[in-house]
Amino acid sequence: MKPLIQAFHDKNTGTVTYVVYQNDGADCAIIDSVLDYDPKSGRTSTASADLVVDFVRAHRLKAVWLLETHAHADHLSAAPYLSRQLGGRTGIGAQIAVVQQAFARMFPQRPGIERSFDHLFQPDEVFAIGALQARALHVPGHTPADMAYQIGDAVFVGDTMFMPDVGTARCDFPGGCAATLYRSVRRLLELPPQTRLFMCHDYPPAGREARWEVTVAEQSENNIHIRAGVTEEQFVEMRTRRDATLDMPVLILPAIQVNINAGQLPEAEENGVRYLKIPLNAF
Ligand SMILES: [Fe+2]
Repeated sequence: MKPLIQAFHDKNTGTVTYVVYQNDGADCAIIDSVLDYDPKSGRTSTASADLVVDFVRAHRLKAVWLLETHAHADHLSAAPYLSRQLGGRTGIGAQIAVVQQAFARMFPQRPGIERSFDHLFQPDEVFAIGALQARALHVPGHTPADMAYQIGDAVFVGDTMFMPDVGTARCDFPGGCAATLYRSVRRLLELPPQTRLFMCHDYPPAGREARWEVTVAEQSENNIHIRAGVTEEQFVEMRTRRDATLDMPVLILPAIQVNINAGQLPEAEENGVRYLKIPLNAF
């Protein structure tokens, strides 16, 4: 089964949002949506999400799932906005509870946060997008809760692998583990070689246009971090050394507090203004 896939690439954060469906007029899933957020002004905008809304309406699709591959640290989710515009249930991996707990000290959480997503996927859980059969794959490592979504011959890999010339996702966030990521990626690379893999991000090297689709065969042959033949020990050594050089993502503090709460923005305070919190010296 070969679903139709429309990608929306957000140049600001390098994130790719996907609409997955069988044909016009059918049910669809929206994966990893983006609420635009400018950290300089604190201004949010739905410009990126509205491109998705327009596409879904133009193709007469019914949004049934608003999926997150994980709690992103680089952008805010637009799932609540999309749900209001289009309907659909939010879903993420069940291990999100571990991520919510890991950040509980930094961001005091409203009661019931564990129920903020409409659905928590168990490993290998099968679900439907209209006539399309889908499966949630637990692929931890970048975070404990990362999921990939297998829909027909396509797999939306979240933050596991990036394009072959970029490599793999970092593993130094709370609960991250390079050895675990290695095993998750190896499992994805055991899928049939022609399987289409869709990246959650692309950070293209200078001189190349952004791309986000690649096959299992191409990753196995060419991925600079984890192609066939790279051992777990070599990968962990490389990943650990590299992660030690990386700055925190610009939006990690705004993004995490919103995304572990299924993308819900904080309630307005008495003056009618919503505030994000920046914990000092907690990271
Ligand atoms: Fe991520």
